[in-house]
Amino acid sequence: MRAKTIKTPIPEGAMGWSSIGEEEINAVVSLLREPQNLFRVRDDGKPSNCEQLERNLRDKTGAAHALFLASGTGALSCCLTGFEIGPGDEVIVPAYTFIATPAAVVDVGAVPIIAEIDESLGMCPIDLEKKITPHTRAVIVVNMVGVPARLDAIRGICKKHNLILIEDNCQAIGATYKGKYCGVESDAFAWSTNFFKVITCGEGGVFFTNNERAFQRGVYQSDNGLNDVGQGHPFDDNVKPFSRCGIRGNEIAAAVLNVQLSKLDGMLKHTRGLKKRLFSKLNTPVNYTPQYVDDPEGDCGFCVNLIMNDDAKVEPILALAEREGLPLHKLYEAKLYEGGDLHIFSNWTPILEKRSANRLGYPWTDPAYEGNAEYSADMCPRSLCILNRTVRLLFNINMTETNIDEFAEALNKIDAELE
Ligand SMILES: Cc1ncc(COP(=O)(O)O)c(C=O)c1O
Repeated sequence: MRAKTIKTPIPEGAMGWSSIGEEEINAVVSLLREPQNLFRVRDDGKPSNCEQLERNLRDKTGAAHALFLASGTGALSCCLTGFEIGPGDEVIVPAYTFIATPAAVVDVGAVPIIAEIDESLGMCPIDLEKKITPHTRAVIVVNMVGVPARLDAIRGICKKHNLILIEDNCQAIGATYKGKYCGVESDAFAWSTNFFKVITCGEGGVFFTNNERAFQRGVYQSDNGLNDVGQGHPFDDNVKPFSRCGIRGNEIAAAVLNVQLSKLDGMLKHTRGLKKRLFSKLNTPVNYTPQYVDDPEGDCGFCVNLIMNDDAKVEPILALAEREGLPLHKLYEAKLYEGGDLHIFSNWTPILEKRSANRLGYPWTDPAYEGNAEYSADMCPRSLCILNRTVRLLFNINMTETNIDEFAEALNKIDAELE
């Protein structure tokens, strides 16, 4: 039997959870030794883990405000509520994102509108502009798997049409664009720190904004209309509290995330180095085009997406990759969830069928909504065509340059071999 090109064992692992070690354990243990301090608002005047984390997050990203929450979806709901987006409003989201993005729109009572992606695998600026109606209030651009979307173009369109721009950076913690953290140049942005993310505390999220009023409203959104979590922050009497569900972040998670944040730069230095190394060793491709990356310097570097030029080449390249031991996977049809991969709009059944959490069918039947959102599983054919042809390699922090050199060798070999 002929030898595979990949000879070195490929290390298991991911980003965040693979880097959890003694520092995170110690941070949790020392907090649990003081159970009287388990709430994020402390009585002794000392800063809680949540407060320290939020300070560190502001310092790191340059955002004026950061609020640690229970989830990334919750953070998106704060972004939207922060700018009073709700009943009657349409919010444009891309066809390729986790279902949490449109779910957050529905949660605040607004209607998601789905726009095509392009070869950046992010929102297509041309289709975005086509999807704007008199009801559009906001756009959520999503920087998927650590890669910044076409942010300049999208920011320009939002400015032109006076729309709020929110960045869903749940999968792109640490990604930058033109030298600044993704999100800081937009109205608000969200991170998820759930188990699968770049840094993790199991479950968590962060709402960021530079807008004072939006921040205060986000605090009320997260804290049942209280402003406990904004301890020390001067609250404006004109921003009145309102009642919402509680999605506060907790101290144990913050203790873990504070340590994880200190490891972020090191992890990204490693994965960025790996991705650059791979591309420096790849021959000019014959059968595929790499995902278009608007700002390669800002890319987190843990995912390489290759768009096959021809549908018919997808299965053959995967078969050759398997023969060589190369961990190349198809992006579409990944059987992540029952019913299909929920990162692709065609599998968002609860949205496509306009399933409502209430008996009146809101937000789609809300009398405040005068638009006419219609969905179908084939409504974004260009996105399906691109996603269906995309294969990917995922890197983790345990991989080495030797792994990458073998990946490049295998990829060059199988690309040359494909007819
Ligand atoms: C793009 C995107 N947006 C939002 C979310 C929601 O984050 P969470 O699971 O923390 O609510 C996720 C999580 O997987 C995501 O990938």
